[in-house]
Amino acid sequence: MHEATFSDRKSPFSPEEHATYAEIVTLHRPMRDALLVPMFSKGVAQLELDRSEIPALDEVNARLAKLTGWQGVFVRGLEDGAGFYSLLRDKKFPIGHFVRDRRDLNYTPAPDVVHDLYGHIPFHTDAAYGDYCQRYGTLACEFLDDPTRLRRLERFFWFTNEFGLVETPQGRRIFGAGIASSLGECRYALSAEPEVLPFDVERICEQEFRIDQMQPRLFVMQSIDQLYGSFGKLEAVVRA
Ligand SMILES: [Fe+2]
Repeated sequence: MHEATFSDRKSPFSPEEHATYAEIVTLHRPMRDALLVPMFSKGVAQLELDRSEIPALDEVNARLAKLTGWQGVFVRGLEDGAGFYSLLRDKKFPIGHFVRDRRDLNYTPAPDVVHDLYGHIPFHTDAAYGDYCQRYGTLACEFLDDPTRLRRLERFFWFTNEFGLVETPQGRRIFGAGIASSLGECRYALSAEPEVLPFDVERICEQEFRIDQMQPRLFVMQSIDQLYGSFGKLEAVVRA
């Protein structure tokens, strides 16, 4: 599916889309250091994503290439499993080529520029994070014809890269891009409302989720290294 990727040299976004991006990023700015893992803010700064318009992907990719070799690629629709995992394997991350409607400022279940470019791409400035994602994508590519095992990997990604929490010396922080790109979910995820369980690979691989609601159950890692260090366990659970 990623054959459909294309360049944005001529900024194909409408003035309304640029304005919505800028509004969300501005509203998110005060939360960034207080609620998210430091690697997110660092990545936003390194890639200069906090702008009054949608940054040109070519410029973002030039900076990202120097840091980790990862690249964002625009896709015209939601990536299916095969497309998504093979992109990760190739150190590429798909970016939905649209911006959510202003009425969905807080959250959209369909990945858009705010979710993918602003929410995910900053993490890919971190080499260890990028390496982990590449390993994950390579593993998932083994199971493209095995829906049961692929579903375990999908759940794991959901509760870590998308909706994970992590303990840091500064306190509990948001790790997941799904939370990071949702203004409403940022405060909710760190409130007393969701049930927060300790990170547990087996449990996460069996935990179902819905994409159209705030997540009632989240998992918290003791550190980001706990995630990277559990790759062997993930592989064993998925293969079982
Ligand atoms: Fe995502």
